[in-house]
Amino acid sequence: MSVIDLRSDTVTQPSAAMLDAMAKAATGDDVYGEDPTVNHLEAELAKRLGFAAALFVPTGTMSNLLGLMAHCERGDEYIVGQQAHTYKYEGGGAAVLGSIQPQPLDVQADGSLDLAQVAAAIKPDDFHFARTRLLALENTMQGKVLPLEYLARARSFTREHGLQLHLDGARLYNAAVKLGVDAREITQYFDSVSVCLSKGLGAPIGSVLCGSEALIGKARRLRKMVGGGMRQAGILAAAGLYALDHNVQRLADDHANAQLLAEGLRAAGFEVEPVQTNMVYVAMGDKAEAIKAFAAERGIKLSAAARLRMVTHMDVSRGQIEQVVATFVDFSRK
Ligand SMILES: Cc1ncc(COP(=O)(O)O)c(C=O)c1O
Repeated sequence: MSVIDLRSDTVTQPSAAMLDAMAKAATGDDVYGEDPTVNHLEAELAKRLGFAAALFVPTGTMSNLLGLMAHCERGDEYIVGQQAHTYKYEGGGAAVLGSIQPQPLDVQADGSLDLAQVAAAIKPDDFHFARTRLLALENTMQGKVLPLEYLARARSFTREHGLQLHLDGARLYNAAVKLGVDAREITQYFDSVSVCLSKGLGAPIGSVLCGSEALIGKARRLRKMVGGGMRQAGILAAAGLYALDHNVQRLADDHANAQLLAEGLRAAGFEVEPVQTNMVYVAMGDKAEAIKAFAAERGIKLSAAARLRMVTHMDVSRGQIEQVVATFVDFSRK
């Protein structure tokens, strides 16, 4: 029985063609700056996203951490969504390792932060307070795409208030594909962007932080400090380059599969939130553990949550989505 894993788009396996590209990668010692494939990936992504420089790192968590630490000093503050990855799901790294105070705010229904609330949270220049330095957004945010018009406003807002603007773009390309725009249309508004290659793009490992020469220079020093300086990392960068060349436009298939899943579940009477990209949220209430166990017996891996998240990705086919819908229908008739 082939397993259908809908817990996250991080579970994808590298394809044979990707593994082949990794095996053939030219490598060198990247801590010496001598890995040609890493250098190529960094230059390529910086160019594609409109930045002067980029840095390859093992994880999105490290990429966000280095971004925050490169923008902020000890005793500074960043404003961030209460439900954002950079606040809630990264072990408190910015506070623990960077001595940067988070100021979380509730995320709006569309995935944005209300700029009036952000303005109210900015601390006056007074020694009682941490120095507010940065606004961190996430796109997609739980599968929702931030409107370009909002990003333009966030950009002017941060300029007016002397803040830097960072994007956790773990799923930047899902947002770009959904909007039907070049990713640069999104990244143009930010001072730094973290992009994950190991989510929907299907690489096994790797994220890239993009920014100015000065910011990335600082992040490179910090990467060494936190133990993220890798040696012949070209084998990993090759997977990232392969992903960027082959797996971006196909994200539209994941989005279509997510719609199919949502429609099937709604037709079966489940309460499903509107779907924009590759994430489907279903209200399971106190049935979360029961559906997880029921689906597991049928080869479907789910998380257990009252607000159940299911994520489509390149290793889940349309036929398998139909199987998942059928499983939920059986469950509802139990
Ligand atoms: C929105 C978002 N940002 C950052 C990350 C961190 O990525 P990593 O797991 O590579 O540390 C994740 C991981 O799932 C994520 O969903």
